[in-house]
Amino acid sequence: MTRHVATGRETRKALGAYYTPPGLVQAALAHLPWPRGPIADLACGDGAWLEAAARRWPGAALEGVDIDPEAVAAAQTRLGGLATIQAGDGARVRGPFACVIGNPPWGAGRVGNVRRGIESASAFVDAAVGSLAPGGRLCLLLPAAWLEVAAHAAARRRLAAAAAIERLEHLGDVFAGVHAPAALLIARREPDAAARAAQVVETPHGPVPQAQLLADPDCVLNARLDPTERALVDKLEAERERLAGRVRFILGVVTGDNRRALDGEGRERTDAGEPIVTGTDVAPMRIAPPSRRLVMPLEHVQQAAARATYARDKVVYRFVSSHPVAAVDRAGRLTLNSANAFAADDPEIDLDFVAAWLNSSTVRWVHRARHAMPRVLRSHLERLPLPSATPAARRAIAAAALDGDATRRDTLVMDAYRLDGDERRLVSRWPRS
Ligand SMILES: C[S@@+](CC[C@H](N)C(=O)[O-])C[C@H]1O[C@@H](n2cnc3c(N)ncnc32)[C@H](O)[C@@H]1O
Repeated sequence: MTRHVATGRETRKALGAYYTPPGLVQAALAHLPWPRGPIADLACGDGAWLEAAARRWPGAALEGVDIDPEAVAAAQTRLGGLATIQAGDGARVRGPFACVIGNPPWGAGRVGNVRRGIESASAFVDAAVGSLAPGGRLCLLLPAAWLEVAAHAAARRRLAAAAAIERLEHLGDVFAGVHAPAALLIARREPDAAARAAQVVETPHGPVPQAQLLADPDCVLNARLDPTERALVDKLEAERERLAGRVRFILGVVTGDNRRALDGEGRERTDAGEPIVTGTDVAPMRIAPPSRRLVMPLEHVQQAAARATYARDKVVYRFVSSHPVAAVDRAGRLTLNSANAFAADDPEIDLDFVAAWLNSSTVRWVHRARHAMPRVLRSHLERLPLPSATPAARRAIAAAALDGDATRRDTLVMDAYRLDGDERRLVSRWPRS
């Protein structure tokens, strides 16, 4: 059962106070060698990690910090004389420690719906690395998104510049009743650049060189692939053609207030305004008649392109999705920000082919293999490797997709990528998440 010292949903959210299940703490610490010096939890909550550390390494010097006085009191009661617990901001604690363990707050410190900016998980990774003695280790439970999303890329680069990553593990949803996929990160502060470069990262799917992980241009730490899957991603990536620079992305309308700006959002449907395509209207090769209308003038919304920009023929794709879902819009419709779009600047780009290819099982596979978060971003699409197919092969792929023959579409796309039998079987399965 999840224990909460911080009472009330709002307080818990504000403090990022979702306490770690005990079994998970023990499993995490089991990956660590005996620390040769003090061990700290910089956001210790009621002390579950420190208690497990005391059991695993009897006699070790233990220090805990938490900003919540109730949590501090609970940890003091739980640990008695085994640990020193203090109230304070753990992100400001300076070591040196031999080990920093714990489950730091996720996302606390962000205001309202601001998605970027200082995010506590990154602040605590920085604090952990900064407070470790050389050779010391951090063992942190983090949001799985921390390994992937652009907002944390700078923090991942800082980690990689100072530490050798020893283990990465996606754990899925570990907190009862909360959708918050977690990941375990174990890293050693490593001042020797050659040792960092030579580091091999353990993952549940086999070892992977740290240098290979860091070769990702966005420094995504992808620990979800086994060697066969990684080899297939590399094979697909070897295709040279990309959408980048050849299409113009069109961000869907951000109204700033959907309740006021749209009908059907808590207000009566009317014939006023203009139909606007939302993410759920988009299906492979088909856009349903828009279920919403924009009743606010386009000039008054928070963010939108000029009306003429939406008027172009374009591929529209869902934003919130675990893989691309795309269709061609030839009606010049507006799209809401749950459905973004791109138009072709390059006359050689056939929109029907591109939409068919985006919906194919191979693209679905490679997208899921590379991105755990259920989002389809412009940067994801720009980097997808297009197969080097002849114009006739591309027309055949588009035709199969327009006929609704997904099996033929998928086979033709696999042919274009020259996949062998094993690779076809792999692509036909969803990758593990
Ligand atoms: C996700 S809980 C984890 C608690 C504990 N480590 C566990 O796993 O059971 C995060 C904790 O961070 C604390 N916290 C939030 N901001 C903090 C800060 N700036 N410094 C120290 N602790 C903080 C919260 O009070 C909460 O106890």
